[in-house]
Amino acid sequence: MDYFNNRNGILYAEGIPLTEIAERFGTPCYVYSRATLEWHWRAFDRAFRDHPHLICFSVKSNANLAVLNVLARLGSGFDIVSVGELERVLAAGGDPAKVVFSGVGKRTDEVQRALQAGIRCFNVESESELVRIDRIADKLGVKAPIALRVNPNVDPQTHPYIATGLKENKFGLPIEEAEDLYALAAAMPNLEVVGIDCHIGSQLTDLAPFIEAAERVLALAERLESQGIYIRDLDLGGGLGIRYRDEHPPEPAAYAASLSHLLSRRPYTVILEPGRAIAGNAGVLLTRVEYLKHGSHKHFAILDAAMNDLIRPALYQAQQEIMRVVQETDAELIRYDLVGPICETADLLGRDRYLALEEGDLLAIRGAGAYGFSMSSNYNSRPRAAEVMVDGDKAYLVRARESLPELYAHEHLLPAEPPQGL
Ligand code: LLP
Repeated sequence: MDYFNNRNGILYAEGIPLTEIAERFGTPCYVYSRATLEWHWRAFDRAFRDHPHLICFSVKSNANLAVLNVLARLGSGFDIVSVGELERVLAAGGDPAKVVFSGVGKRTDEVQRALQAGIRCFNVESESELVRIDRIADKLGVKAPIALRVNPNVDPQTHPYIATGLKENKFGLPIEEAEDLYALAAAMPNLEVVGIDCHIGSQLTDLAPFIEAAERVLALAERLESQGIYIRDLDLGGGLGIRYRDEHPPEPAAYAASLSHLLSRRPYTVILEPGRAIAGNAGVLLTRVEYLKHGSHKHFAILDAAMNDLIRPALYQAQQEIMRVVQETDAELIRYDLVGPICETADLLGRDRYLALEEGDLLAIRGAGAYGFSMSSNYNSRPRAAEVMVDGDKAYLVRARESLPELYAHEHLLPAEPPQGL
């Protein structure tokens, strides 16, 4: 579901034609739809309404302040993985008491800041981290709320780079070792055990792995209770997939329904950490065709967006839908590789796409609201794209395109050579 629709042959973001946005803000440009973001967040909130729950948007998927602020206004919590993400959440008006802190490598300064801010929970991924958090909490004279991120060893059947719940992944703690570690944590004077956490992977299009993981985690919660360790939060992570081209991922309602027999009559607050399922289809990357290049083997459309703007196709062979913004054209339908100007063969945004194109045409790369801008870089000294949010019939610049001097603003020359021969 999204609010990017074709009206009279032109692709609109809510009430505004993307042609107008390209004219006002230039390309490449990320365009987000507020209504779509809100719709997906509310779909999760509604789906779990029968259980105490907290939807913690995964900031890594889209960390733009306006995006976080729109969700914070709905009452969203946030899943963070760095102090940078924490500062963004706070700057966007997010409630620290609804923040969970994930990630395998939390630094001392990050733990300190999160404790001072008063976050809801640290999702701890190793024994050393438990010891570190306990020590820092002691120094600050506070109790640190923690959950252990357990690894339920479930195959999420997704791309290997975004599978996280398998034994061989760096994430989480083996579920078999969890009881001993919980006992250790419960005995640490400056920790308060508040939850269990797991996250098995991303872009899951099948519910079975989620259910299997939840069963294993709930069985652990019961074993812990028999040891006198009671938890409040059951954090099932993120990972629900979206439709990029022809996938059929379940809706949040189906996800919740598949868990309801496991969750009913259990006292836990369910925490979810969706990123992609909220932001993914709420954004497009707007780009212009610079050149058409017809080779003897292949036809290339060279765009003004590149792998530095959207790395998913290069990194995961991801296939995202790419469409013309203005439908009508006299151009011939040809099979193109859509590439960027970067000096890498992997700089591909779409392979073997049948499109009718002319130089100067505007294209929209769909499903770019999550892991789009947030993974972008300055490779090839390309300023990062502008970000625009559409709200009804208004468009707001929510991040200006980087300027060229900004690219090297933090760089310094070595001192000048002393004059020779003196
Ligand atoms: N919670 C944890 C602990 C995570 O590691 C992640 C994502 C999420 C929540 C959110 O997952 P989501 O609901 O968005 O699937 N860059 C990749 C995706 C990497 C996901 C990393 N972890 C991509 O573009 O496909």
